[in-house]
Amino acid sequence: MAGRLEGKVAIITGSGQGIGRGIARRYAREGARLVIAEWKQHRAERVCGELAELGAEAIPVPTDISDRGDVGRMVEEAVKHFGTVDILVNNAQTFTPNVPFEEKTEEMWWVSLVTGPMATFRAMQAVYPVMKQAGEGRIVCFASLNGEVGQRLTVDYNASKEAIRSIVKTAAREWGPDGILVNAIAPGAASPVYEAWAARQPEMAAANLKTKPIQRMGDPEEDIGGVALFLASDDSRYLTGHTLFVDGGAWLGPSRERVKDDPETWKRPDRFRNASFD
Ligand SMILES: NC(=O)c1ccc[n+]([C@@H]2O[C@H](COP(=O)([O-])OP(=O)(O)OC[C@H]3O[C@@H](n4cnc5c(N)ncnc54)[C@H](O)[C@@H]3O)[C@@H](O)[C@H]2O)c1
Repeated sequence: MAGRLEGKVAIITGSGQGIGRGIARRYAREGARLVIAEWKQHRAERVCGELAELGAEAIPVPTDISDRGDVGRMVEEAVKHFGTVDILVNNAQTFTPNVPFEEKTEEMWWVSLVTGPMATFRAMQAVYPVMKQAGEGRIVCFASLNGEVGQRLTVDYNASKEAIRSIVKTAAREWGPDGILVNAIAPGAASPVYEAWAARQPEMAAANLKTKPIQRMGDPEEDIGGVALFLASDDSRYLTGHTLFVDGGAWLGPSRERVKDDPETWKRPDRFRNASFD
């Protein structure tokens, strides 16, 4: 049986490990051809080796997404090697230290903004003519619940991720008529960067899991990759401009505590004259 992405060409930034690697593996299993755009050469080559074992064609393209020239070359290499680009996954982001608002430096801001919204914007501009000419294209960007809720200690990252959501909505509106669909994923996944954070602060990691109705971290390939596959496949052809929170329900926030009612109370008329209903 043909895969759901049979023959499609996908560029995935930051696909040398973590969520990007998981998406690359998932797309490979569905027949896609892949560009592994990653600044750590050894990671890119390792992933290309894994993808070859899955029977997929994949090329490593050394890319620092903070570099405008690299981003342009990433798309050029994809077109040169595979002839087109059907799917762009803007996954890479360089992280800065978690420190209070007042200690954030301008350098940290620039790293977050240049590798977040600026890289996403540049990659989208670079790929646009190819997708427009083809009359179709899929773009998947990466946001974060941190931005949505104003998480402490990551103000630069939060701002960069909310800017990406704004780019997604604007491009969805402008490029929908060209057949280009643009959506975002705000993930929660056990990637190496998450595992390192959780190992440094196990209590916080345990508390983090408790915020999720589905009380585990997502798997990069099966859980995040599955939704990234949906966003790249024909099944999502009427969906654009969204952010999907793929985080086990953490986006719902903590539930407000309630005392369980006696099931019989609803039968009492005075139940409905409760002060909170007045
Ligand atoms: N893991 C989570 O729970 C989580 C939560 C919210 C958002 N995200 C987002 O998901 C995406 C992937 O995160 P992850 O957890 O897999 O991270 P990760 O650090 O495990 O993997 C990121 C990959 O991107 C590469 N990379 C970093 N900077 C780069 C650059 N300038 N140029 C090219 N490659 C670069 C890294 O080398 C690495 O291979 C990011 O956009 C992140 O903000 C992740």
